[in-house]
Amino acid sequence: MEISYKLKSKSDRRSEPFKPTSTLSFGQLRTDHMFLLNYEDSKWQNARIVPYSDIPVSPGAIAIHYGQALFEGAKAFMHEDGEIYSFRIDKNAKRLNVSAEILCMPQLDEELQIKAIHALIDVDRLWFPLQEGASLYIRPFMFATEDSLGVHPSSKYIFAVILSPSGPYYPAGFTKPIKLLITKKFHRAVSGGTGAAKAAGNYAASLRAGEFAKKFGASQVLYLDSENKYIEEAGAMNHFHIEKDGTVVIPEFTDTILRSITSESILELQNVLGLKVVQRRVLLDEFVEKIKSGEIIEAGGFGTAAVISPVGEYIFEDGSSITVGDGKVGKYTKKIYEYYTGIQNGKIKAPDGWLKKVERINKD
Ligand code: PLP
Ligand code: COI
Repeated sequence: MEISYKLKSKSDRRSEPFKPTSTLSFGQLRTDHMFLLNYEDSKWQNARIVPYSDIPVSPGAIAIHYGQALFEGAKAFMHEDGEIYSFRIDKNAKRLNVSAEILCMPQLDEELQIKAIHALIDVDRLWFPLQEGASLYIRPFMFATEDSLGVHPSSKYIFAVILSPSGPYYPAGFTKPIKLLITKKFHRAVSGGTGAAKAAGNYAASLRAGEFAKKFGASQVLYLDSENKYIEEAGAMNHFHIEKDGTVVIPEFTDTILRSITSESILELQNVLGLKVVQRRVLLDEFVEKIKSGEIIEAGGFGTAAVISPVGEYIFEDGSSITVGDGKVGKYTKKIYEYYTGIQNGKIKAPDGWLKKVERINKD
């Protein structure tokens, strides 16, 4: 499918490379344009790049009433050659279709998703933030637009992509470990539900837990399974811990856990990292005991926005807490972070196919 362009006039667009003067926060800024595609009459049509603006939606749109909406999160990086590279974007495109299947939404050709994302980055390439540790965050999303109050899958959708020049997800960045709240009060997902999808509704459902976590000084909740036995994941990242011998343990992917591309990448990198990375179910009781006994020495979260976020402390509802190791960023976590971001930034050779160059196609 061809993409049509209706761009802002040159005088209204960014004309110089973007050099932020203060540390960028996550997800606040937008670029000049967005990508839109409509699904109507059982087919995707009208692929276009247009100025970033509001999107008119019917007040009866199914996405608004029944939450039939999903999204993805990916990043692009600028390398020393001045070119921009998307990171594992094919995995995001694939996962979008997994989420679409779970939410009864239409499949969207993965090559077209990538073409759309790259075309948009190309148009707005001057928005790439020239700041240490910053990147271009890519947010593809799909939502139901049919005007109907009956509860059924929509017959109309919009797929869109917006970009956000972003800094770290947690304001203190990698250097200051975060705190997570372990609670039996809230659950993110149940088996047979939508936990493995990047469904907008999962995030709406996590807000109350997130606010609760803040009361304890924690950034997020570390969710348990619905029987409060196993550790699952946090609201916006998978979870990991590291044992004394350097083994990295990620809770096994079930239908209540999002299949994190960061987790999958760390699993794939275990040989070059020289660390054993395993997936298995992690019992909460065992996890807590092993932190107390010093068998677990590091822990954290894996995610596109979160990257590798060390966790220094777990807080419980009764106000008690446990510190992981010495509460600081551990040597294994640091090694993983440096290797992973080194690949993303082009300083360390990436496995084949992980980075795709954004070609210069827009001649305007
Ligand atoms: N789990 C949840 C609930 C998330 O929102 C995210 C973020 O995307 C992740 C895990 C990490 O997934 P990824 O590494 O693909 O970004
Ligand atoms: C991501 O890491 O890309 C996410 O989607 C997490 C969050 C910002 C919701």
